[in-house]
Amino acid sequence: MPTPVTLIPGDGIGPSISDATVRILDAAGADIAWDRQVAGMAGVARFGDPIPDATLDSIKRTKLALKGPLETPVGEGYRSINVALRKTFDLYANVRPAHTILPNGRYKDLDLVLVRENTEGLYVGIEHYIRVGDDPKAAAESIAVVTRAGSERIIRYAFEYAVKHNRKKVTIVHKANILKFSQGLFLDTGRMVAREYAGRIALEERIVDAMAMNLVLHPERFDVIVTTNLFGDILSDQISGLVGGLGLAPGANIGINGAIFEAVHGTAPDIAGKGVANPSALVLAACMLLDHIGDDARATRVRTALESTIREGRTITGDLGGNATTDQFTDAVIARL
Ligand code: NAI
Repeated sequence: MPTPVTLIPGDGIGPSISDATVRILDAAGADIAWDRQVAGMAGVARFGDPIPDATLDSIKRTKLALKGPLETPVGEGYRSINVALRKTFDLYANVRPAHTILPNGRYKDLDLVLVRENTEGLYVGIEHYIRVGDDPKAAAESIAVVTRAGSERIIRYAFEYAVKHNRKKVTIVHKANILKFSQGLFLDTGRMVAREYAGRIALEERIVDAMAMNLVLHPERFDVIVTTNLFGDILSDQISGLVGGLGLAPGANIGINGAIFEAVHGTAPDIAGKGVANPSALVLAACMLLDHIGDDARATRVRTALESTIREGRTITGDLGGNATTDQFTDAVIARL
């Protein structure tokens, strides 16, 4: 039986990189039944809704989605659909692997994975202004909520990921020296979970500011990293930068009731419709999906074909310094499969 997966092509370059990804997975023989749905501007155009019920129903049914980038209007209009999907399906783990693909990059042989807590911390949206005298906005408070249960499930996810992917170490990144309660709870919970993996997966602790520096100086020393929402948001983009930017960065949002895989980059309006977008990030996201459904061997085949096409450097897209179109690059990857 093919695995049903919701496919949301997305806006801007989304449809073109989604087509490329589906072509590559088909050529690799992936046994997936795509259920095509719309969201974002495409959802507004078709149903007057950026997250149509049909799309949510599809993900509820399949529990798996591959999603192209979605346009979020700035300052007005609807709120981020990515955040709404995260909340609807309680996608608590944001997983961002980064490893060196491009030769001659700044760092050789990087291979690390950041696991970010996706539902708690400073992003719970509890904020208010405080009036002092005549000034209604004299002060503002944003509340960070960290729970033991939320910390435990994300840290356990990181350790289980390490076990499954033959990794050796989990680094817990925190600021418990200053935020003794919220960050302290996260760190304490991490130490407790780590005991269960003693002898198999090493535990390392890093304060976030030192971690930012260490990631620039010695990123090769890290393996799996787990941290709270805000720190994870910042460090995950930093890590993408270490290996050549967002064009090669896949991400997964994983919960108990579903998992959504996506490219980290946006809709690239400046090149949309020109047929020159790099589909690699979405293809790598699809490989994470294959891993997730247990088809690791096929994921490895697709990754190897994609990475060797990029390393060889003859048929690569403009963002990587080449002049191939999306279709030409896709054909080159398929030829290598
Ligand atoms: P962006 O990532 O779309 O573009 C930044 C730069 O990277 C542009 O020059 C673009 O051409 C280039 N680029 C991005 N992906 C590329 C690819 N696959 N191949 C070649 N070049 C690529 O970021 P920007 O411009 O800030 O955002 C544009 C729109 O995307 C906004 O509406 C934003 O809300 C949305 N967005 C959606 C995301 C998602 O759905 N996950 C994530 C980030 C932004």
